[in-house]
Amino acid sequence: MYLPNIYHMEKTIIIYSSLTGNTKKAAESICEIIGNNKNFFSVQEAENIDLTQYEKVILGFWVDKGNMDSKIRKCLKGIKGKKVGFIGTLGAEPQSAHGKKVYEKAQLLCSKENEFLGGYLCLGEVAPKLIEMMKKFPLKLIHPYTEERKARIEKANGHPNNEDFENIKKYFKDIL
Ligand SMILES: Cc1cc2nc3c(=O)[nH]c(=O)nc-3n(C[C@H](O)[C@H](O)[C@H](O)COP(=O)(O)O)c2cc1C
Repeated sequence: MYLPNIYHMEKTIIIYSSLTGNTKKAAESICEIIGNNKNFFSVQEAENIDLTQYEKVILGFWVDKGNMDSKIRKCLKGIKGKKVGFIGTLGAEPQSAHGKKVYEKAQLLCSKENEFLGGYLCLGEVAPKLIEMMKKFPLKLIHPYTEERKARIEKANGHPNNEDFENIKKYFKDIL
């Protein structure tokens, strides 16, 4: 069957990086919007994929020290001339000052060599291992386990949840 070029031009790929599974789940929820899950790859798998057939790239990242994680940043360096969007998960509230900075940084990086489609940040629970590490930090170090941090971390427990997945789907339905 003959397929016009436009069919190929509209293809979307999702590439995600996830340490503890939050970002994988969040990014996976977008598969429904793009109509299949064959274009869903971990950042490691994506190393061997030819991106020329895709017009749009959705990058899934977890926030590491206020930025997109390094694996996704490395992957993004190889993406040029595409329409790029992102789904990011983080321990802090997306609407907080920290969340807003993360969004701006990610937007800037996505816009450098590509057209920015839009991005969505979602709460992602913090791995128990990391919490144990924070508890051992002396109070003056970065990320000490203060009462405020404890409250913030507890807020992220259970996320991303079904409501998050619905919101993510709604967002990407609009921009894709
Ligand atoms: C080493 C490390 C650094 C992190 N740094 C931040 C940060 O700067 N800001 C934040 O809001 N969350 C931070 N987090 C929390 C994660 O971004 C969050 O739990 C995310 O959902 C993890 O996603 P994943 O399960 O896909 O790996 C950090 C987590 C780890 C393990």
